[in-house]
Amino acid sequence: MKHSDFEAFGGKAVRAHTLTNENTTVTIIDYGARIQSLTFDGVSVVCGFSSLAGYLADKDYHGAIVGRYANRIKNGKFSLNGKTYTLAKNETARNCHLHGGNIGFSSRLFTVTDCRDNAITLSLSSPDGEEGYPGNLTVNVTYTLENDTLTIEYRAKSDADTVINLTNHAYFNLGGVGKESVLDQTLTLHASAIAEVDDTLIPTGRLLPVQNTPFDFNTPKKIGSDITAKNEQLRVGAGYDHGFLLTEQAPAAILSSEKSGISMAISTTEPAIQVYTANFMTADNPFFSKYPQIKNEAIALECNRLPDSPNRAEFPSALLKAGEEYRQKTSYRFYKNQ
Ligand code: GLA
Repeated sequence: MKHSDFEAFGGKAVRAHTLTNENTTVTIIDYGARIQSLTFDGVSVVCGFSSLAGYLADKDYHGAIVGRYANRIKNGKFSLNGKTYTLAKNETARNCHLHGGNIGFSSRLFTVTDCRDNAITLSLSSPDGEEGYPGNLTVNVTYTLENDTLTIEYRAKSDADTVINLTNHAYFNLGGVGKESVLDQTLTLHASAIAEVDDTLIPTGRLLPVQNTPFDFNTPKKIGSDITAKNEQLRVGAGYDHGFLLTEQAPAAILSSEKSGISMAISTTEPAIQVYTANFMTADNPFFSKYPQIKNEAIALECNRLPDSPNRAEFPSALLKAGEEYRQKTSYRFYKNQ
């Protein structure tokens, strides 16, 4: 593993940690414990920025660990043990809590607490009441690179009952960042249903079966095949921006580019994947200082719980009991197409 100075943030140095394997190189930075870059077979397959300024300007959570709760919580409120908690409503246009609030984990400086040749653990403490959440929470995220597989293991503990939903928000483009639209890439996703959302992208509580809809990726399909189909859910999401309930977890999803010949298989212990086809990606903040951000440039495949689960008893639970351990393991295996 190689360590270098990325830049300073709030008077503290942000370090970059590079793990290298057969054909894969991944760099993680302390800021948001983000994947800053990932190359496989010489192709750059995760969107990122070459300087901290790019990350400070970023509103799309590039490469970041997202928490305490990834995705949206309706009206920034939930009840637990008879008490209502009010969270930061940082997505004002939709009057909701998004991706952990004003200063979520994606904007926090993590501390390296363990470092081996092919693995690094980054940790943070989130005090009781931070962004409105109950409980003093400690979080450990371990990135391991082995045989062209990047594995992320998450562990967290709270001293009071709380809710938690951690994920990594990397945007993948297996054809190479800036080289091809993700609409030309093929996705396989083993899922039975999506969580239907309303006009503010908050789940209605209904699970819509994917069969015979544009949301069916059970047999491999180009991401762009049906993205402009006449469909109410595609209209509200301006493309795919939905939680898919998984039927298989290993692998749960496979993404491939014919052009580069690269594939990635995702396996996870989580019950759902948020598929976001970068429908709002238009920021004037070029990737690696040279590739403009373009709608549908990449895809985020966020392994986690469904959005707004704290308000939806019918969804897989996001409750973390005091003293119990939250664990998640998600891996991304890169390989050349046969
Ligand atoms: C998630 C959400 C999207 C969007 C992105 C961040 O994937 O579902 O609506 O907010 O994060 O840009």
